[in-house]
Amino acid sequence: MEKPFFIKEKQNFTLYKANCIDFLGQLPENSVDMIFADPPYFLSSGSFTCQSGKMVSVKKAEWDLSNGTTENFNFHRTWIEACKKILKPNGTIWISGTYHSIYQCGFALQFHNFHILNDIAWFKPNASPNLSCRFFTASHETLIWARKDKNAKHTFHYEGMKNGRFPGDEFKKPNLQMRSVWSVNTPKPAEKKFGKHPTQKPLELLKRIILVSTNPGDTVLDPFTGSSTTGLMAYATGRKFIGIDIEEQYLDLSVKRFEALKKNTPNNENKSKQQTSNSINKNITRFEATRLLQETIGKDLRELAEENGIIVFKDGKLNKGWAGLTLEKALGIGNNSRQTSDGDSWELKLVPLVKKDEAWRVKETMAITMINPDDVLEKPFEESHLFQKMKKMIICGRERKDKEESSSRLLYVNSFDLVSSRNHWNQIKKDYELVRNTIKTEGFDSLTGRMGKFIQPRTKGSGHGSKTRAFYARVSFVEIILGIQET
Ligand SMILES: C[S@@+](CC[C@H](N)C(=O)[O-])C[C@H]1O[C@@H](n2cnc3c(N)ncnc32)[C@H](O)[C@@H]1O
Repeated sequence: MEKPFFIKEKQNFTLYKANCIDFLGQLPENSVDMIFADPPYFLSSGSFTCQSGKMVSVKKAEWDLSNGTTENFNFHRTWIEACKKILKPNGTIWISGTYHSIYQCGFALQFHNFHILNDIAWFKPNASPNLSCRFFTASHETLIWARKDKNAKHTFHYEGMKNGRFPGDEFKKPNLQMRSVWSVNTPKPAEKKFGKHPTQKPLELLKRIILVSTNPGDTVLDPFTGSSTTGLMAYATGRKFIGIDIEEQYLDLSVKRFEALKKNTPNNENKSKQQTSNSINKNITRFEATRLLQETIGKDLRELAEENGIIVFKDGKLNKGWAGLTLEKALGIGNNSRQTSDGDSWELKLVPLVKKDEAWRVKETMAITMINPDDVLEKPFEESHLFQKMKKMIICGRERKDKEESSSRLLYVNSFDLVSSRNHWNQIKKDYELVRNTIKTEGFDSLTGRMGKFIQPRTKGSGHGSKTRAFYARVSFVEIILGIQET
């Protein structure tokens, strides 16, 4: 196996200097969760283009020179085939390019039986003008997103895309689905302060790609890493990274960018107490809270708890509510998980996750609210306490390790809105009506945990003989709203 050009084990950030076609075969098969590839466009020639108002030669580098259509296509076919071997069965690949290369890449993906999920038009609002004035100004690139297998269960954080904040994207409207046209500016000057790469991608673009299609702790690989924009974002969001490039100068640039980011990253290795203070407004909206919590993904809640003076384990006893309290502190909202803002309210829910067969799974059912039989008999679903509690939530998943919870990374954050999930609404309503009918016809004591597809009525408290019951969300449903499982 090739020796890394640069490796930071603790940060899971590794760079290799190699031709990816030779190198990819050295990696274990089925080992990578997501590949972002920005291959050469093969557009370098003797002509000119406009950059920052100046005429510049269209020769980006030797590696970008075209070898003719057939050779270029063979190149794309070969590296894409090598990528398929190392992708996990549920893994996905993103390929970016302009019309010079993207159709060949798309065909090569189809050739190797990838299943294309989307082609994204990355619109560049600040694209350079066209100098010849004889055709349209090129102002977009295409990103193809594909999964390894047609039947694979790929990762897609739907709610995060719908409700997240995308400043500067004029096409993204709050609380509406993310479409396949994204408006993102080309890299800011600050992103080029350690040197220039001729085809550097903006961090904002990679942030969106990584957040939507991977989970914290996943392995992301970039076979044409260049200045490692992918790697910086992978690191910043708690993913592992492997980058490959044939040119040493770009790997040097990658190292400089990585070191600078590492130095400035709060709460990773350089623990800073930013973000954990109570400075955030109590009337925080669900969208803002989701965004803030998503930025906390990958962080150890145990460390945040210590910074906030929250006791986790003392005298052999675990403080059961410590993790929820820690997140509330991080948001500055006090220890009542029902928040109001603009007359709106939402619930903050936190569930423990355990690793099974290499995947994170929800450990247990999630308590929603106590069942008061008189109240249930009186109220239809839409007026019920259950509906109120489930209407809008932010649901978070955290790692649960040992009895003392010595570490507990935040792994998932998703925003859930029952009003826009009609199928879920209908099923939960059915589950509620079943409970209501059973109380009416057979009595409260006849409720059993076997009832309900998404929501079950279950004994709460001291187990056998206990008279109190609560509505619980089943594990499979919690996994759906958390984004671990497809609907
Ligand atoms: C389009 S650029 C990628 C830019 C990168 N996305 C960024 O944000 O900086 C393509 C990169 O692929 C590298 N490259 C070209 N052929 C390669 C090969 N066969 N194996 C590995 N890297 C290669 C080039 O050196 C170049 O840095």
